[in-house]
Amino acid sequence: MRVIAIANQKGGCGKTTTAINLSACLAEKGYKILLIDMDPQSHASIGLGIEVYKLKKSMYEVLIQPEVGFQDIIRKTEIPGLEIAPATIMLSGAEIDLANVIGRENVLKECVQGLPYQYDYAIIDCPPSLSLLTVNALTAADELLVPVHTQYFPLEGVKQLLKTIDIVKKRLNHKLRVLGILPTLFDRRTNLSKDVLDGIRDYFRDKVFNTVINNNIKLAEAPSAGKPIILYDAGATGARDYRSLTKEVIVREKEIGS
Ligand SMILES: Nc1ncnc2c1ncn2[C@@H]1O[C@H](COP(=O)(O)OP(=O)(O)OP(=O)(O)O)[C@@H](O)[C@H]1O
Ligand SMILES: [Mg+2]
Repeated sequence: MRVIAIANQKGGCGKTTTAINLSACLAEKGYKILLIDMDPQSHASIGLGIEVYKLKKSMYEVLIQPEVGFQDIIRKTEIPGLEIAPATIMLSGAEIDLANVIGRENVLKECVQGLPYQYDYAIIDCPPSLSLLTVNALTAADELLVPVHTQYFPLEGVKQLLKTIDIVKKRLNHKLRVLGILPTLFDRRTNLSKDVLDGIRDYFRDKVFNTVINNNIKLAEAPSAGKPIILYDAGATGARDYRSLTKEVIVREKEIGS
């Protein structure tokens, strides 16, 4: 199993949209996928049709209560082969509850190692912060995918993220690698988007995926229907873009090896 964390502390850059749709497109290709929602906002869970307010147990209990495991919370989705470990707002309390736990950065990793079922990929959706939840995701991950908004590229923010990755690599997870930088919310009509994309490619070079995720209203609509784009509108630009990303992820995985 490969574990891919989708992280960037900047809000609204397409992490959750990427987590949902990369997971769905990998499942469409026949892989067994677990999407782990590590964001108290629960957007990945809601976007896959989970009624989070009804949940009695979710990622919070998995992380905090030793007697609760993934098997107690994992749900199937409309996409065969795609399952989700949902989060609720409760997860916001985990930061405090974990603060005094010995090995607090390793909790998710240990839970993932104890997964009851063999998945091909676990995809982790991170919150927009460099908090303990994100550090847990980076510690559990083999690879990191960083979505970057093409209408605004705050280099300082990305440098901060890279610094955190370096610290996690040195102290907690030597094998963590950057799988790729993904330009998102690209607007072909604006020079701003093109300039920012050039800036991202200049800075990150071959780490940047060839696939660019275009701004596509269908991608924004799909979560309210509780569906990934390939079910909501399989012909949309967003479906094409995420299928293309999925192919690249599979190729890069093979190049990186294990
Ligand atoms: N390619 C796209 N085209 C149009 N809308 C998009 C696209 N990608 C994301 N969005 C919309 O932009 C908003 C932010 O996207 P998303 O929730 O994926 O970002 P995020 O990084 O997970 O945000 P947060 O940091 O709050 O977790 C959402 O309303 C989403 O539907
Ligand atoms: Mg999100």
